[in-house]
Amino acid sequence: MNISGKTKVVGIFGYPIAHSLSPLLHNAAFEKLKMDFVYLPFLIKPPELKRAVQGIKALNLIGINVTVPHKQAIIPFLDELSPEASLIGAVNTVHHCQGKLIGYNTDGAGFIESLSQEGGFDPRGKRVLLLGAGGAASAITFSLVEKKVSELFIANRTFKKAQELVDRLKKTASSSCYLAPLKLGELSGTNLLPKIDLLINATSLGMFPEDPPPLSPHWLLSSLFYYDVVYNRRTQLLKAAADKQIRYLDGQEMLIHQAALSFNIWTNQKAPLRKMRRVIQENGKLKFPKRSRTTKRKDELKC
Ligand code: ATR
Repeated sequence: MNISGKTKVVGIFGYPIAHSLSPLLHNAAFEKLKMDFVYLPFLIKPPELKRAVQGIKALNLIGINVTVPHKQAIIPFLDELSPEASLIGAVNTVHHCQGKLIGYNTDGAGFIESLSQEGGFDPRGKRVLLLGAGGAASAITFSLVEKKVSELFIANRTFKKAQELVDRLKKTASSSCYLAPLKLGELSGTNLLPKIDLLINATSLGMFPEDPPPLSPHWLLSSLFYYDVVYNRRTQLLKAAADKQIRYLDGQEMLIHQAALSFNIWTNQKAPLRKMRRVIQENGKLKFPKRSRTTKRKDELKC
């Protein structure tokens, strides 16, 4: 990497940030296309977010990605929002353009692009069951409704959050999609699963080896397509899908496609998807933060 006085800088704001694969993905893409850019990780504690965002202009950064816990908190500090970011209520990409900071959300579109390009699955008119109602679930559901799925069931451990997400979708989405909230623990008692075309795990269950699956592998029926947004390891459900020869995708594809869309926003160039996938497969052994608080403290100490 040849950093010079002309090198353009992008990066990612998060807390923690050490586990992020985005620097690996974007720097590999810049190298492949011989672009004079560098992508840096920035560990930003929540109380520092406002000053950090002001720093994007002060330091003349081209843009940043935004990750946990800043995706919603950053919104008041930006000048404009894309329609998707505004609908979803969260930002994962900021572009510093003509003196303005414009917030985008590429998570939902990254999910849809990976589903169609890598999975060969067109969600239009399909029945979808999505597990989870957090940030990832929210981005994915808005994009699915926009893509005109016919029915969307949202099952979450905390029913209230599923209900709130459905209410938000009903208010903002101009689609005739049938929407229903469910309680995750009560799913197997329903007769819903055999009717589902696309099953998505958008909970964080599966990120850690000791995690139970959000749903019994018994429910991975051969008629459905399974998408697990967990990207740091093969979850029990992903392994079961492979064993049963069910069509599936893992969260690495969503990660790559959302990154490719951010790359395009900053550079106006098409991202080298194959290179990005290769670098993740070769180097993507994740040092994911452990659940204990001690890891967070270690992270701080490293600074
Ligand atoms: P992300 O940004 O990855 O979506 P998040 O916004 O914290 O993360 O959302 C995590 C999702 O995983 C939520 O739907 C959460 O369910 P709750 O709303 O009930 O908290 C779900 N989740 C996390 N741990 C879970 C567990 N042990 N069992 C079931 N669902 C879980």
